[in-house]
Amino acid sequence: MRAVLFESYGSADVLAVRDIPKPEPGRRQVRVKVRAAALNPKDSFVRSGRFRAFTGSSFPKLLGYDFAGTVEAVGPGVPAEWEGTEVLGMLNGFAGGSAAEFVVASLDEVAKKPAGLSFEEAAAVPLVSLTALQALRDDGAVTSGSRVLIHGASGGVGVHAIQIARALGAQVTTTSSARNREHCRHLGAHETLDYEVDGGLSVDGRWDCVFDVFGNLSFAKVRASLAMRGTYVTTVPGPRVLVDRAMSLLSRKRARVVIVRSNRIDLDIVARFIATHQLRPIVDRMFPLAEAAAAQRHIETKRARGKVVLRVA
Ligand SMILES: NC(=O)c1ccc[n+]([C@@H]2O[C@H](COP(=O)([O-])OP(=O)(O)OC[C@H]3O[C@@H](n4cnc5c(N)ncnc54)[C@H](OP(=O)(O)O)[C@@H]3O)[C@@H](O)[C@H]2O)c1
Repeated sequence: MRAVLFESYGSADVLAVRDIPKPEPGRRQVRVKVRAAALNPKDSFVRSGRFRAFTGSSFPKLLGYDFAGTVEAVGPGVPAEWEGTEVLGMLNGFAGGSAAEFVVASLDEVAKKPAGLSFEEAAAVPLVSLTALQALRDDGAVTSGSRVLIHGASGGVGVHAIQIARALGAQVTTTSSARNREHCRHLGAHETLDYEVDGGLSVDGRWDCVFDVFGNLSFAKVRASLAMRGTYVTTVPGPRVLVDRAMSLLSRKRARVVIVRSNRIDLDIVARFIATHQLRPIVDRMFPLAEAAAAQRHIETKRARGKVVLRVA
């Protein structure tokens, strides 16, 4: 089968499409014939070597975590009814492999694709929607009536976070560049701010949750604007998060970092949001599989408005 892989860490130029053996599904795994795969900043970080502490130095490495397609073989312990099912899914860990003609995933990493979605739309959903759901619901304790600020709301995670925050019943304010304010409003934000003019942090005690999607704020910057038991949630792990966590120990206000994890329960929740028209996948651009390098370069501009998807013929 054809798969996108790389033989060394580096820029997007290291990506190549090669023929490799079709993977075999193991226990409680399915093999999916991939129709579309979405890319995320994580793919670029892995490819560049930024996560080498986790990804090691053995090559080749495969690209891609998000996918949508049709189950074409099942491993031991998987009910035969899964064969032929249209699914979407996200691979956990760092091994990747969804940017390929076939991918093997555990049963816990897939859910049935909602009817009416194209494969390209379905592939755009998992990683970003699970991140938004887990950040808002689990880390941010967002429920009906929560006042939420989503910072950097127009990228892959942000455009899905706006809609998921609304589905949880929140009152949503976004920050983005001026050109994306209307886009955020269209997706359901009650108030849209241009972060160059007003970052939304000037009123004390205003937010129950600040979801820092872009990851360039900090607990110190956000703390005054949080309500008494408010939470700052960032997407970017790193040393600053340890400082933020330590600072939040002295306060009822909390600092959290979301680390997304694929699981069927949450994938089904996201699929239900789609089926009930509370969540619409937003695809910014599509590329053929062979143009994975161009797709990654587009993400690396940090200007994507929604998801970047690879079509797998
Ligand atoms: N920890 C986890 O589990 C996890 C999971 C998913 C993602 N992430 C991380 O979350 C971050 C966002 O992911 P993503 O998929 O949404 O990325 P993305 O799609 O590449 O984000 C692009 C968006 O970033 C916005 N942006 C650019 N410069 C900005 C600035 N200075 N301030 C605020 N926004 C700015 C842009 O909006 P404008 O053009 O309007 O500025 C653009 O729409 C990445 O760092 C990713 O690695 C972490």
